[in-house]
Amino acid sequence: MNVELSHILAEGAYLVAAILFVLGLKALSHPDTARRGMFMAEIGMLLAVIGTLLYFEIVTWTWILVGVAVGSAVGTLMAVFMPMTAMPQRIALSHAFGALAAVLVGIYKFIEYPVDDLGRLRIAALGFEVLFGGLTVTGSLMAFAKLQELVRGAPITFRGQNFFNLGLLTTTVALYIYFVCDPSAAWAFYTFLALGFVVGILLVLPIGGADMPVVISLLNSYAGLAAAATGIAIDNKVLIIAGSLDGTSGFFLSILMSRAMNRSFANVLFGAVGAAPPPGTKTVETRTVMRYTPDDMKFVLENAANVIIVPGYGMAVAQAQHVLHEIANHLIELGIQVRYAIHPVAGRMPGHMNVLLAEANVSYDMLFERDAINDQFAETDVVVVVGANDVVNPAARTKKGSPLYGMPILDVDKARTVIFLKRSMGAGFAGEENELFFDKKTMMVLGDAKQTLTAVAGQLKKRPGLVHG
Ligand code: TAP
Repeated sequence: MNVELSHILAEGAYLVAAILFVLGLKALSHPDTARRGMFMAEIGMLLAVIGTLLYFEIVTWTWILVGVAVGSAVGTLMAVFMPMTAMPQRIALSHAFGALAAVLVGIYKFIEYPVDDLGRLRIAALGFEVLFGGLTVTGSLMAFAKLQELVRGAPITFRGQNFFNLGLLTTTVALYIYFVCDPSAAWAFYTFLALGFVVGILLVLPIGGADMPVVISLLNSYAGLAAAATGIAIDNKVLIIAGSLDGTSGFFLSILMSRAMNRSFANVLFGAVGAAPPPGTKTVETRTVMRYTPDDMKFVLENAANVIIVPGYGMAVAQAQHVLHEIANHLIELGIQVRYAIHPVAGRMPGHMNVLLAEANVSYDMLFERDAINDQFAETDVVVVVGANDVVNPAARTKKGSPLYGMPILDVDKARTVIFLKRSMGAGFAGEENELFFDKKTMMVLGDAKQTLTAVAGQLKKRPGLVHG
């Protein structure tokens, strides 16, 4: 194949890839079409890789094969060994890898190409790429360490943190501008690159608890922007398009999640002014409550006229979605109205609950978002909270200084009876105790959610007149 033809084919592959990325992203906006969206994006990525390989003159096959082998091995290990419940950690690692690639490409370009040939725009993009890439690498690794509890997950703060961070950020940006004005200043390039790594750690340190999801999606956006800048620096159109899509969609997701949690986006963006440390991080409750059994739960459920199920992270841990669906079917057969209330940050990743319930074939029209169902709790006989805690914790409404304060919650405390399925009296992700456990209307059915629900389903099956199995 001659060089000209291969370039035309490569650009064609990039064009189709870019179109597939846009269509895939659009399809991802609804659970019905999300799978198709993912598939389109995957094909798009494959085409982009093939397109790149068609630039024969830049290909060194040895390194490409080494890259494919290492990348496939790491990807396969992550897919096989990291459970769905560790998805945020996995995403954080992926952002770190993506950003590291941008940084390495940037450094290579800076070393290998005479800066005078690059032009001002490419120089600016190159600097942006390594700066944003650098802070995304360390920020993502820090987010990973926090989520994995390798370092304390709660905000880590120190005296004068805001001033220190602001000073460091200003110095870094000043060096970047200096470099753009004088691209021969290699010392400035390497210094702001090093400072970018430090800034990434410092930005994520003071963030924790319930704000982590927003940080993850913000880092996603940074990784995308770094990739777009790489595209400009090395003149690769598909990188510019894919990076911009990633950057802007991650940015909008961060804003939407901040809104869903009633957090100031600026607080998360400039992490150093983030949430105050939670007062009672991961405390274990010592008060006692009356414990109920699966039998009690079955009795209350079958005597209700309407039931709302609130799934949370514990449902994912227990993998209780299938048996939950089975119980919902039993109740519907008994003429009981059953709905699911989905909080936007329930679980550990955006859409976590939707994915799990879809896996169990729960119909989408039974799922209600917070705004659509919150005023229905007061009219509800029984709410079953399956491994959720923070998203139903009334401290978010009442307890100033709580890490949850101000976050919109599902008002399950307004229902007539609340059944909590969890293993202990312990706190949720944000480390805040939940007073609702001690309310007279609350029934604590302690134990693994799947085991409890399996026992309840067994009891319901024995009920005369039920045909479900
Ligand atoms: P959490 O507040 O994390 O509470 C989950 C509860 O599940 C825990 O209290 C735990 O209590 C229980 N649990 C764990 N394993 C269980 C099992 N096998 N069976 C029964 N219960 C089990 O969950 P949530 O209410 O879904 O709130 C999500 C939290 O995660 C929010 O703070 C949110 O900000 C944060 N977060 C969300 C995301 C996204 S994007 N969704 C990402 C990162 C962080 P026991 O230990 O007593 O069983």
